[in-house]
Amino acid sequence: MKHSVVELFAGVGGFRLGLEQSGLETIWANQWEPATKIQPAAECYITHFPDQKNNPYFNTDISEVTAQLETNPKVIPNHSLLVGGFPCQDYSVATTKAKGMLGKKGVLWWEIEKIVRIKNPPYILLENVDRLLASPAKQRGRDMAILLGCLRDLNYSVEWRVINASEYGFAQKRRRVFIFASRNDTKHSKGLKKEGLSHNWLQKNGFFPAEFPVKQEPVDHDKPDDFNYTVQEISDKFSFRFQNAGVMSEGKIYTIKVAPIQASFKPLREVLLKEVESKYFVTETDILKSRGWQYMKGSKKEQRTAKNGHVYQYAEGAIPFPDKLDSPSRTILTNEGSQNPNRSTHLIEDPFAKKYRTLTPVEVERLNGFPDNWTDTGMAESKRYFCMGNALVVGVIERLGNRLKQVMKT
Ligand SMILES: C[S@@+](CC[C@H](N)C(=O)[O-])C[C@H]1O[C@@H](n2cnc3c(N)ncnc32)[C@H](O)[C@@H]1O
Repeated sequence: MKHSVVELFAGVGGFRLGLEQSGLETIWANQWEPATKIQPAAECYITHFPDQKNNPYFNTDISEVTAQLETNPKVIPNHSLLVGGFPCQDYSVATTKAKGMLGKKGVLWWEIEKIVRIKNPPYILLENVDRLLASPAKQRGRDMAILLGCLRDLNYSVEWRVINASEYGFAQKRRRVFIFASRNDTKHSKGLKKEGLSHNWLQKNGFFPAEFPVKQEPVDHDKPDDFNYTVQEISDKFSFRFQNAGVMSEGKIYTIKVAPIQASFKPLREVLLKEVESKYFVTETDILKSRGWQYMKGSKKEQRTAKNGHVYQYAEGAIPFPDKLDSPSRTILTNEGSQNPNRSTHLIEDPFAKKYRTLTPVEVERLNGFPDNWTDTGMAESKRYFCMGNALVVGVIERLGNRLKQVMKT
């Protein structure tokens, strides 16, 4: 059987690019930016993947697609793998007599849940910030548990792993949780059932270790926890310490902390252009002025006054200034392009010009493993950085794609 992929929350196509590099074909995708009228990510995607006949792409709110799905399941074609990176939001539910279980409006998890319920693909690969494992702060782990509870009820087994791209040879410290679900009638899920939820699965035989190896360290327990609460019970009172690796199957959860077998890392220096336009260089005044770059990135302990007049002590530690060229970069965020002094935008000492500057869009694309000028498709430069702040490390997806091909073959 030919494997086909449906890509949700597609952005500029990080999943698609990585999966294509591993030989998997995307047959349908969806992307819509709710915050703005303009749709630069969608335009970028269509520029690179223009074949609308064979690989249709929808630039509409996903909830408009799922609204049609109940009556017309064909609005999304059948597929073997559903992928998507989606936000960490409040997944809690309320049950009403008339409508049953209801998630909060606008929470995108419920759109994914509906697609899985109606289309029932054999495999799913999702991406999220690793904060998902611990949120919300007041009921630690509830949201991840709701996600697991929903997939359990839809007859899937799930394995997750936090992957820091820099630990596997990429030039950016981008840490994301990847969530892989396999329908319980697949060979992969049957293999898990046979082996049982154990450290062996998470360190050796499961989905992630083949491409993202971890140390075969002893663990202090090998006994899964019960996970047979309803989603409503989870939402109301369940709390759990999810570690960076774990597996859920048929009413049990097993989670442990795993340590990567560190590949030699790629330093930020390796993505730098030799010559860049003068607009990326920052002046000495911008560095030294009050609330300039040096101040923003430095440690501080000071008294501040809130808008309501409340006076409080503010403290934060220093972050590298300038950013180190011989380490992988910090995580690229959506405001990376800001030329106004701030903490998170990278500021490097250009090794050729020997002056301080910010990173160019191409360098940021390289940190995510996209081809040079991938986002140079007519959007404003600030949007190019924004799209890269949202995107993923393509090489990580390519390796997950290689593993998916093995798993889906069986
Ligand atoms: C974390 S980003 C994923 C980026 C993508 N993986 C990439 O490589 O570029 C989430 C994407 O979901 C899109 N999005 C947010 N709300 C949406 C909605 N209601 N329907 C469809 N897409 C949405 C955002 O515009 C954003 O591009």
